[in-house]
Amino acid sequence: MTLQFTVAIDGPAAAGKGTIARGLAERFGFAHLDTGLLYRAVARRTIDGTPAAIAAATLRLRDISRTDLRTPSVSEAASKVAANPEVRAALVAFQRDFATRDGGAVLDGRDIGTVIFPEAQVKLFVTASAEVRAHRRWLELTNAGHDVTEESVLADVMARDKRDSEREAAPLRPAEDAETFDTSDLSIEVALERANAIVAARLEQEK
Ligand code: DC
Repeated sequence: MTLQFTVAIDGPAAAGKGTIARGLAERFGFAHLDTGLLYRAVARRTIDGTPAAIAAATLRLRDISRTDLRTPSVSEAASKVAANPEVRAALVAFQRDFATRDGGAVLDGRDIGTVIFPEAQVKLFVTASAEVRAHRRWLELTNAGHDVTEESVLADVMARDKRDSEREAAPLRPAEDAETFDTSDLSIEVALERANAIVAARLEQEK
């Protein structure tokens, strides 16, 4: 029997979306797409000299599997190319196709529940205060060997939040029917348990 079941997870950087998305994918055997990687891969190609719209229209699997997509300079460039409507339009079909793949899919990003796949059976909006998110991102970057201060990471997080939420094309915002998880005071593990329960209940209804 085929299963078409989609979980859309949106929210700002370092709120815990990725951990929740990976956890759900593992628990339910769904495929997972971190859509931020698409924008990061486009940004990486613009840094190498390819115009953004062309980079998005000709994106290949090998561009998204690069290991240098998580640096602060690529994060900033990704947030900038993500405001370009031509870039966003070029990436819609791939994401929608992924969302409907057989066996279930989890996509995390900024506009999955609002623009890419509003039909998703489960929509989560994962957020946390800018300070908590900056602290998490600073720990990640420091552990990966980057020499950055927590203040500079907070400034970057706030600048990205502003750009991602104020842009005209698919701004970051919760879908009206999304379940919001604020992970400022909630551990990501507890948030994942709640998400597991929501998905399990919704899957039960599909039977
Ligand atoms: O989730 P991330 O930090 O890897 O995303 C990098 C940038 O890509 C982020 O600043 C905004 C953009 N993005 C987006 O506009 N829409 C998405 N669905 C995913 C990411």
